[in-house]
Amino acid sequence: MADRLNGKIAVVTGVASGIGQGCAALFAAEGATVIGIDRDQCDLTEEAEVQALFARIGAEHGRIDVLVNAAAFAVFDWLEDLSYAQWKATLTGELDIVFLATRAAWPWLKASGAASVINFASANARHALEGSPALAHCAGKGGVLAMTRQLAMEGAPHNIRANTIAPGFIKTRATTAHLAADPGFEAQVLAKNMLKRLGEPEDIGWCAVWLASDEARFVTGADIAVDAGATAW
Ligand SMILES: NC(=O)c1ccc[n+]([C@@H]2O[C@H](COP(=O)([O-])OP(=O)(O)OC[C@H]3O[C@@H](n4cnc5c(N)ncnc54)[C@H](O)[C@@H]3O)[C@@H](O)[C@H]2O)c1
Repeated sequence: MADRLNGKIAVVTGVASGIGQGCAALFAAEGATVIGIDRDQCDLTEEAEVQALFARIGAEHGRIDVLVNAAAFAVFDWLEDLSYAQWKATLTGELDIVFLATRAAWPWLKASGAASVINFASANARHALEGSPALAHCAGKGGVLAMTRQLAMEGAPHNIRANTIAPGFIKTRATTAHLAADPGFEAQVLAKNMLKRLGEPEDIGWCAVWLASDEARFVTGADIAVDAGATAW
C-alpha cells in the first residue's frame, strides 16, 4: 500500500534531520504533498517569520491537512550546570516552536475540514532515564504533552485532531552526540528497552503516517509511545 496519504497537504517542520526527515520521506511515499521546513526557510522561534511562512503556504495551497511539528532544539545538562539562558532556550526550542507554528497554521488546518496535528512528546515526559541530563527537555516535553491535549479539545469542533508521539531513544543528529559523549549511555538506554535496539526515524515515521491518515480519524488527544517498551515497566 502506498497511497495512505493521497491528496493530503502535509507541512513537516525539522525536515532537514532525524524524525522530521523520516516522516517527510514516508509521507511523500504514501502520496502526500509535503512542504518541508527547516532553518534555511525560517527560524521557527521567530513569530513574524513563522506567521509570514504559513501565510504563504496557505495562500498557495488553500489548506493544510497535516502539520508535523518535529523541529526542536534542547540543551541537555544537569540541574547544577544548566544556566538560566540554556533553560529558556530549551523551552523556546521545544514549546514556543510548537505554539508558534500551530497557531500560524490553525486557519489553514480549519480550512482542511479533516486535519491532523502531530507533536512530539517523549519518553522523557513520563520517566527519568538514569544517566540522562534531561531536566529542561523533560519540562519541555511534559509541556508539549499537556498542550496537545488542549489543542485536541480546541480543534475538535473543526475536525482538527491533535496527538503526540512519544519516541524512545531514536538515532538522529540530536542524539548521536549523547552516545558519543558517554560510552556507557547506549547500554543504559538498551537496559530500559524491551526490544534491544535503538530506534530509527522510520520507526516514528510509520506512526506519524497512521496519525496523519484517515485510518486514525477517531484518534485525538492521544499520546502514543513508540519506545521499544521503555516506559511500559
Ligand atoms: N531523537 C530522539 O531520541 C527523540 C526522543 C524523544 C523525542 N524526540 C523529539 O522528536 C522531535 C525530532 O527530534 P530529532 O531527534 O529528529 O531532532 P534533530 O535535531 O535531529 O532534528 C531537528 C530539526 O529541527 C530543526 N530546527 C531546530 N530548531 C529550529 C528552528 N528554530 N527553526 C527551524 N528549524 C529548526 C533542526 O535544524 C533539525 O533539522 C523533537 O521534538 C524531539 O524532541 C526525539
